[in-house]
Amino acid sequence: MTPALLAKLISGEGAALLASLPPYDEAEAFVLGDRLRMEGFDPELIAAALTQSRLRSRAERKFGRAAREMLFTPDGLEQATRQQVARLHARRLADSGARQVHDLGCGIGADARAFAAEGLRVTAVDADEVTAGVADHNLRHWDHASAQHDFAERAGAPDRLSAPDAAVWLDPARRTPGVSDINGRTRRTFRLDQLAPSWDFALETAAGAAAAGVKLSPSLAHTDVPLGTQAQWTSYDGEVVECVLWWNAAAWDRGRSALVVSDQFAYEVLERDAADTDPGTARLDRLQGYLYEADRAIIRAGLTGALVRRVDGVELDAGLGMVSSPRDVLVPWAKKYAVTEAMPFNLKALRSWIRDHRIGRLTIKKKGASTDPDTLRRQLRLKGDGEATILLTRIGGAQAVLMLVPAP
Ligand SMILES: C[S@@+](CC[C@H](N)C(=O)[O-])C[C@H]1O[C@@H](n2cnc3c(N)ncnc32)[C@H](O)[C@@H]1O
Repeated sequence: MTPALLAKLISGEGAALLASLPPYDEAEAFVLGDRLRMEGFDPELIAAALTQSRLRSRAERKFGRAAREMLFTPDGLEQATRQQVARLHARRLADSGARQVHDLGCGIGADARAFAAEGLRVTAVDADEVTAGVADHNLRHWDHASAQHDFAERAGAPDRLSAPDAAVWLDPARRTPGVSDINGRTRRTFRLDQLAPSWDFALETAAGAAAAGVKLSPSLAHTDVPLGTQAQWTSYDGEVVECVLWWNAAAWDRGRSALVVSDQFAYEVLERDAADTDPGTARLDRLQGYLYEADRAIIRAGLTGALVRRVDGVELDAGLGMVSSPRDVLVPWAKKYAVTEAMPFNLKALRSWIRDHRIGRLTIKKKGASTDPDTLRRQLRLKGDGEATILLTRIGGAQAVLMLVPAP
């Protein structure tokens, strides 16, 4: 989309055309396009409106109904923070004393909208003209928020950010312009030296602000966490979506933390919750009771120790995020299973167990084991009306199988 086409799309005829479109249906799009052309609409405008309609329907998983009145670019939607997580960014900056936020590289404005909705004054910029225009449109309901076409390096000059109530938000692009993946989308980069705006700029700008957040890939290495910041790995519905580095007033607890988010809740686990925890030594013959599986954000943040401590248990093996305990504890950021049996991994023994229990339907979970579940399923010759869940895992370095029943 060009800036001129965006201007057409958001004014008069374009806005009316977009508002008149039915819910997007891929199978109908072609016929609909033809009909609109017959009605005399500009073909370029029709294509742009249908693209928006398609992107809006795709965006509902991130923005719910709000997507229906937003505009998107394909890359902007891909990179946008989902609404529930953006709200938490906004609340954090507001609770850190910020009254205004400089969003330096705002994309289509998903975070910026959350800042504005939280009552923060928002000055957003994006280096891409169309993206900045889309963000400005997405901020239209808030008088105290706007987006402009500008470079972070200019808009983020130290003299502009010096107010004590000004926070900085940086969500650098993790895509390499001009380099496409197999789906034709710009390829993602996980390297700090390929961010735009640059990692050096982010470090310097965030450190100089009263409060700041820098959103990065969840693959950030623990060794790259700058001293004095709080690195917060966040999962949404079990998927790790980001690592945000919080600076200065926004760094409430230095070190690593995990934020486990769903539509119903948000729980934060801190490094000090896991500090000095002995992971213990799991033994196959002592696995009665419960198995707890830490949320992936907890594992990425390296905080399984918090789970060990919480349930007073032992880790099955280092790095797996699986903790066994005889105690039945409610931990909202872990899945819980009752362990009914545990045995060393042995195909013959497992096959006998399957036969004796007449298992016809089997769920195979795998954590830290090398066995391929599909091959194993074929080898087990499932037959019967019984149902079971097994975990292929590692205990003290040796492969093992645990029979599990999901527990409330
Ligand atoms: C990951 S996106 C931001 C997504 C946004 N937080 C949201 O939730 O919608 C990063 C944006 O930074 C912009 N960008 C890259 N380099 C920039 C620079 N030097 N100055 C301003 N914007 C830049 C890109 O055009 C891209 O839109």
